[in-house]
Amino acid sequence: MANERASFGSKIGIIMASAGSAVGLGNIWRFPYLAGEDGGAAFILLYVICVLFLGIPVMVAEFLIGRRSKANTGQAYEVLAPGTQWKWVGLMGVLAAFLILGYYGVVAGWTLEYTVASVAGTFLGARDYTAYFNDFVSDPWWPVIYMFLFILMTHIIIVRGVKDGIERCSKVMMPMLFLILCVLVVCSLSLPGTAKGLTFLLKPDFSKITGKVVLDAMGQTFFSMSVGMGCMCTYASYFTKDANLMKTAGSVALINTCVAVLAGFVIFPAVFSVPGLSVDAGPGLLFVTLPNVFHLVFSGMPWLGYIFSLMFYVLLVLATLTSTISLHEVATAYLCERFKLGRTRAAWVVTGVCAALGVCCALSFGLLSDIRLWGMTLFTFSDFLTAKLMLPLGGMFIAIFTGWWLDRRVVREEVTNNGALDIPFFKFYVFLLKYVAPVSIAAIFIHELF
Ligand code: PFF
Repeated sequence: MANERASFGSKIGIIMASAGSAVGLGNIWRFPYLAGEDGGAAFILLYVICVLFLGIPVMVAEFLIGRRSKANTGQAYEVLAPGTQWKWVGLMGVLAAFLILGYYGVVAGWTLEYTVASVAGTFLGARDYTAYFNDFVSDPWWPVIYMFLFILMTHIIIVRGVKDGIERCSKVMMPMLFLILCVLVVCSLSLPGTAKGLTFLLKPDFSKITGKVVLDAMGQTFFSMSVGMGCMCTYASYFTKDANLMKTAGSVALINTCVAVLAGFVIFPAVFSVPGLSVDAGPGLLFVTLPNVFHLVFSGMPWLGYIFSLMFYVLLVLATLTSTISLHEVATAYLCERFKLGRTRAAWVVTGVCAALGVCCALSFGLLSDIRLWGMTLFTFSDFLTAKLMLPLGGMFIAIFTGWWLDRRVVREEVTNNGALDIPFFKFYVFLLKYVAPVSIAAIFIHELF
């Protein structure tokens, strides 16, 4: 199996694909609304600390597990630790991929609808955008149709394979995304709310830090960096032998954090430019608050509002698509290799299951809103279960597996490319994996959940 495996074609392709997975709704939708709810700069500071001490080490661990085993995450542990229970960590990752794609696909569908609405000029006029959003998400058809379309777009890319599908798309879409983001930042920073927006984002108020904020920041780190569920492990199984794992993880973390902060630079100055709009609008921030910004701020220059809104939602679609393909790939690669299915057939199974989950999550804003699990709708429950429980828990086990169980020689060989690279802080890295990551994740869990 090892030799005939697909592989990425270049180092830049590796970085673009991995960053493509990381950069997504997590950065542009989830990060700003959490920052808005959790006090802005204080939350961002905690997030950056989590990225450095939890996210990057776990990402490198996933990389080395994937590249060493040359297997999808569902089977990687069977290769490296045959006959042990570690395989459950990988299988939990595959399950998480299905669950995340189910509810992520719903928001992905919203981004598609809002792009279409932008093209139609919907955000130019005054209207009640709260009602617009609520009517749309509670409709029994449209959110389901758009969700399905989005998963289908993902499916088409996945079927084309690792190099021609995932890598090629990421190499085109990521630079486009960055360009659009930069234009939007420049536009946004010329709005009247810039000073307030920047203060909110950059000046921490430590009194805002509570247990919930810490758990949010940790969950957001794992979710946003796509770590804790083997997504990076599956991608790394396609890495070339000469890829520098530490450098790749560092680059991905940097790109990912920059995009999140830049998205904040676009959103908050805009939101603060309209008196009365609230930054803690929750998940509706992008879909209710921003349309208000488009038409109120740009009322004197509607064409600029048109371009701004269109670029914004196209940006969102691009970022989302590179993430949905990585989620789809985790499950597709597993089904392909575990059950010896052809890629197209495996991809159809994943698309079908995720679309079915997606229907349940999409309808949980309307028809199925009465179904509650521990008081949460199916959508909110999926987000809670995956981002706040499964990913941090997965991250903890990945750190323990790599730091305590895996032969140190294997870890060193992978991180240094068999001694070809000089990694001066190797010991510190192992220390983070052995102690810092597992203990802090466990401590945050115990504090918050019990
Ligand atoms: N990192 C993606 C985002 O920030 O939107 C979401 C995600 C993708 C999470 C892939 C997990 C994953 F495996």
